[in-house]
Amino acid sequence: MSAVSTEWATRLGLRAPIVCAPMGGVAGGRLASAVSRAGALGTIGMGSAGSAEALERELALLDTGGAPFGIGLVGWSLDRDPAMLSLARDAGPALVSVSFLDWSAPMRPAWIAAVQSAGALAVTQVSTAAEARHAAEAGVDAVVARGREGGGHGDHREPRRELLAEVLAAVDLPVLSAGAVSAANGVAEAIAQGAAAAWVGTAFSACPEALTSDAARAVLLAADGSETLVSRVLDVALERPWPARFPERLLRTPFVDRWQGREDQLAGDPETRAAFRAAFESDDFSIVPIDAGQGVGLLTEARPAAEVVAALVSGPATI
Ligand SMILES: Cc1cc2nc3c(=O)[nH]c(=O)nc-3n(C[C@H](O)[C@H](O)[C@H](O)COP(=O)(O)O)c2cc1C
Repeated sequence: MSAVSTEWATRLGLRAPIVCAPMGGVAGGRLASAVSRAGALGTIGMGSAGSAEALERELALLDTGGAPFGIGLVGWSLDRDPAMLSLARDAGPALVSVSFLDWSAPMRPAWIAAVQSAGALAVTQVSTAAEARHAAEAGVDAVVARGREGGGHGDHREPRRELLAEVLAAVDLPVLSAGAVSAANGVAEAIAQGAAAAWVGTAFSACPEALTSDAARAVLLAADGSETLVSRVLDVALERPWPARFPERLLRTPFVDRWQGREDQLAGDPETRAAFRAAFESDDFSIVPIDAGQGVGLLTEARPAAEVVAALVSGPATI
């Protein structure tokens, strides 16, 4: 099926060198199943609000027909609910990613051996070559070089292409490429550069199998990449304990524009935060921003995951 293939993907039993990124609130068991059945690697993503209970619920929906799948966890939220890691290990994934860790200095986190002893690949996202070196020294099986174009939380530093080249030169490990890889030309380019696979988030976020609400899907399909912004406003407004070094790329709204750069004032303004929370709870996306990468403008239809996989492999320049 695949015009592009890599040794890493073939070894994992994939027909396409594509991993659907673990996306909290988007990539549940249904999306993971559809992506894996289509020959790429589907993942279940637990975001910062993830829990063992939520993971159990999504795992119950998993039906990949024997195809491999992955699970993605948020590193700093594992301290809050460590049962997520044992549950993930025991679910039989081919890959477990633990992201949003501080790889700026060497460390030896215990999750790596825990994942590997269950027969899964241990993977993490990095945003510099130095971070990739530290992750490699810690024993991960692969790293995701995540460029600043990417959607959701991250340390938005270098553009995807430059970061991939630097990380490939820095470590002797499979390197996956992420950050607005949202159409076939992005996948082909990443593989031609030497990536083991593309790690794709936003392009799958409007799929009918995703956890995305209809209202959010409509906003994603109408948006273009120039409307994204890297911001902490959503986390501050909702009092989410995200480390400041991981802001998120999201679709700007007038609320974001109003508070961008004034996050301290927002933190000290309980009335505004309460009004925002009400908008959040009622899915009012004229106020509440949605996570998306700079490739969001390439999403033109709510296409099923299998069609997105096919389009990423050999399709046109839009999804
Ligand atoms: C809606 C959304 C939610 C995300 N949630 C997570 C998450 O829970 N865990 C994680 O490791 N990465 C998460 N990410 C980041 C992805 O792993 C990846 O870095 C990013 O999607 C790549 O860029 P792209 O969206 O432009 O393809 C999320 C991204 C998006 C768009």
